[in-house]
Amino acid sequence: MSASYPATRLRRTRASAWSRALHRENLLTPADLIWPLFVTEGSGSEEPIGSLPGVSRWSVDLMAQRAKEAMALGIPCLALFPNTQAERRSDDGREALNPDNLMCRAIRAIRDACGDGIGVLTDVALDPYTSHGQDGLVDAAGYVLNDATVEILVGQSLNQAAAGADVIAPSDMMDGRISAIRAALEGADHVNVQIMSYAAKYASAFYGPFRDAVGSSGLLKGDKKTYQMDPGNSEEALREVAMDIAEGADSVMVKPGLPYLDIVRRVKERFEVPVFAYQVSGEYAMIEHAAAAGAGDRDALVLETLLAFKRAGCSGVLTYHAAHAARLLGA
Ligand code: PBG
Repeated sequence: MSASYPATRLRRTRASAWSRALHRENLLTPADLIWPLFVTEGSGSEEPIGSLPGVSRWSVDLMAQRAKEAMALGIPCLALFPNTQAERRSDDGREALNPDNLMCRAIRAIRDACGDGIGVLTDVALDPYTSHGQDGLVDAAGYVLNDATVEILVGQSLNQAAAGADVIAPSDMMDGRISAIRAALEGADHVNVQIMSYAAKYASAFYGPFRDAVGSSGLLKGDKKTYQMDPGNSEEALREVAMDIAEGADSVMVKPGLPYLDIVRRVKERFEVPVFAYQVSGEYAMIEHAAAAGAGDRDALVLETLLAFKRAGCSGVLTYHAAHAARLLGA
């Protein structure tokens, strides 16, 4: 009988669980997760968000509990977003500069509850504060003004840093905002406050539920295509990232997540900087609806999609599944 067998059998190392564990190239741990949380007014209140099944807005007091829960689960960092009361929203989003706004109160409550045991990342952009739902100041024609917006974003960043934010995360996509924010932080002695820039943020259809969560969806007129990136572009993402690194970003983010893993990989290979991705609200909702419809096992879908971010080169991922995933990983 002539020996006829494959030169190698890749199935050999897959044949048992111990061997698969030994050969696994990428791992997901709770330390890879950043948990986005929505803050609302009131006390003792939890408001479920209809378009984000399983996700709620929490009042400041309950936010402190979420922070302790996250810390116990080994999640290193929270990302905060406020649902500003309608009467505090204005054309110029000036509530972003109020030292007692919802965001600042949430930061302080988390600090009080957790000390420096957990990182607090804060979103810098005006959309939760403007009456028109855009991320910046608009002119009479509705165009979002770049340099005037950067000025207020600098004030917003200093306000958050003074309240105790660890990571300033500008999601507004204005040009030049990273250098302006970095300079202001240095000038105010916040030398160790990091900047994670939403460097490659696309004008995406996947942000819908988030806009419900922060209460901007009903207000938003038009779209965000004059500042967020065109989904057809990838070279431009590299230019965005290069500029933000040159301007002083400590880490960069790609957003949305799963549909843009090619961008994550290219950024990682080109720049070798810490890269994060945001598995955004629409992606979260897709998984939840698929699981609810019986199209897949929820836990397996959650862990597989999050692991994909690690494989693509991410240092970590912002995900609404963070607490659930951390529980699965710890079990
Ligand atoms: C806005 C902001 C958005 C998200 C994070 N920051 C929405 C937008 O740009 O309209 C989306 C996050 C998500 O969909 O989960 N500055």
